[in-house]
Amino acid sequence: MIDSFGRTISYLRVSVTDRCNMKCLYCRVGDDRITVDNQQLLSFEELTRLIRIFTELGINKIRLTGGEPLLRKNLVDLIRTLNAIPGLHEVSLSTNALLLERFAGELYRSGLKRVNISLDSLQPDTFALVTRGGRLDGVLRGIQAAVAVGLQPVKINMVVMRGVNDHEIPAMIDFARNNGLVLRFIETMPIGEAGARMDTRHMPAAEIIQKVQACIGGLPLPSIEADVIGNGPANYFCHLETGTTIGIISAKSRNFCATCNRMRLTSRGELVFCLGNTGRIDLREPLRSAVDDDMVRQLIAEAVIQKPAGHTFLENHGPGASHAMSKLGG
Ligand code: 5AD
Repeated sequence: MIDSFGRTISYLRVSVTDRCNMKCLYCRVGDDRITVDNQQLLSFEELTRLIRIFTELGINKIRLTGGEPLLRKNLVDLIRTLNAIPGLHEVSLSTNALLLERFAGELYRSGLKRVNISLDSLQPDTFALVTRGGRLDGVLRGIQAAVAVGLQPVKINMVVMRGVNDHEIPAMIDFARNNGLVLRFIETMPIGEAGARMDTRHMPAAEIIQKVQACIGGLPLPSIEADVIGNGPANYFCHLETGTTIGIISAKSRNFCATCNRMRLTSRGELVFCLGNTGRIDLREPLRSAVDDDMVRQLIAEAVIQKPAGHTFLENHGPGASHAMSKLGG
């Protein structure tokens, strides 16, 4: 699928639930209540059909996300089914790792290869503050379990917030290095109300990179190598002695929309064109009104053309400018 700016769309992020067992400051506002009526969620049958159709259209990678995807009952069964879809090269998962100790083995056996884990602090108090109540020890056990079962790579995402956790950059690098993890530092993005509120804590990538380089003496990797590490938006740095790679994701300060290859599906079956805009179409209603695959394909093809050139984080942010992150998946 090629959009109207010549970008090939080959990657779909699929949220399987809005529910989460954490409430990260940059993702949810304090008082948002997630009430889920299971009828509203795409069923596993609907998801499988839709993802098969997307795959026929050229999507070859999906990432399951949420909310916290491991809160969706029997997620492992869905992964097993998706792994059997011809043409889908990779199914991966973004998780906060709280339930990973319990599920890592089953996930690995279901064919999951790789996992991205959110980890914003290695200090229990800061961790609890950022996630509003999350238990760091459970997350650390989840990370160990992921590594132990052989998920590879295990990537850690740290959202850097000035004055909250930026002093932990060196500790996080050590942690990643000692545990064989790929580490990515992420700029806060003003997505939804919670993200917009966190703009006061924004630290631009240039400053994060300075801190990383001061710590590891690393050099930017040539872009060809960086492409091999991930096909997402991170710029990777390599530690000279140990070869540890560290990525920086700078959605706001260095817009990488020109190479965007993705779209997002919410748990309720809306196809969202861009993280930083509100454009979307509903696919659930057509699916439930028994339209044939050709019709669904046509709807998706029409949607791809509506994908905007890029986000508008700099000019336009705040509650109305984008969807809540918790509904889009990170
Ligand atoms: N800014 C930056 N990253 C965010 N994430 C969620 N919300 C934001 C935000 N406002 C990312 C975090 C988390 C992943 C699931 O989504 O990196 O690890």
